[in-house]
Amino acid sequence: MAISLSNNNNHPKKIGIIMDGNGRWAKFNKLKINKGHEKGVGVVRDIVKECIAQNIESLTIYAFSSENWSRPQSEVNGIKKLIVKAIHEQVPELMEQNVMLDFFGDIPSWGDEIARKISKAEDDTFMEYPSLRLNVALGYGGRNDLVSASIRIAEHLKSDLISTDDIDEDMIAKFSQVPDDNIDLIIRTGGDKRLSNFLLFQAAYAEIFFVDKLWPDFTRDDFKNCLDAFKKTDRRFGKRIED
Ligand code: IPE
Ligand code: IPE
Ligand code: MG
Repeated sequence: MAISLSNNNNHPKKIGIIMDGNGRWAKFNKLKINKGHEKGVGVVRDIVKECIAQNIESLTIYAFSSENWSRPQSEVNGIKKLIVKAIHEQVPELMEQNVMLDFFGDIPSWGDEIARKISKAEDDTFMEYPSLRLNVALGYGGRNDLVSASIRIAEHLKSDLISTDDIDEDMIAKFSQVPDDNIDLIIRTGGDKRLSNFLLFQAAYAEIFFVDKLWPDFTRDDFKNCLDAFKKTDRRFGKRIED
């Protein structure tokens, strides 16, 4: 049985966030779109601090989806600059806080310079017992990830490294790019009620909270409210719980 998740009446151990609403925030404030993304990066910093304060094990953030490549080139270029800036400015602080970084998705498509900086940031923050694992989805799409995992499993099968009996949920989780499995809670800001191709496999039993606030306006208190609401949920995992 692959599913082993936090109980209710408890803090979630593993959280995913779909950080949506940067564009609308920029528009509302009559600013260029990338100012919205820049403000959004600052919010990540606050939420990371709150995760550490709350003893959260891992935070997986959706920074850029495989579908976001179809945005205007000027926006994608602005996001590239922001990634470089965020790594440069925030890695020292993350190291001080014992946060371990892990980027996943189509990293090569960001180009050599960013791929190198990402790899260095991961090496610099690597540790055995981090205070928080911060996983950043950058050019990630859940469907594509499952296709890639299937191809890799098929290759292992073909090379007789595994047999069909070995294929189970744990193996799919292992071959997926997503660093964590069994996400307990997903928060989506920005008001839309959809997953937009995020963690399709890993969120099978996640509680999903949709928050109307735009990501740049999301605060540590909003995050704490989500944690409180999570504690009130009844996680049955398909079972009948008798009183
Ligand atoms: C989410 O904010 C960030 C990315 C997808 C990179 P959006 O840019 O999608 O914000 P809205 O949805 O247009 O307001
Ligand atoms: C989801 O937001 C992706 C990220 C937050 C990175 P989108 O703005 O891309 O999602 P849709 O297009 O509204 O579904
Ligand atoms: Mg959006």
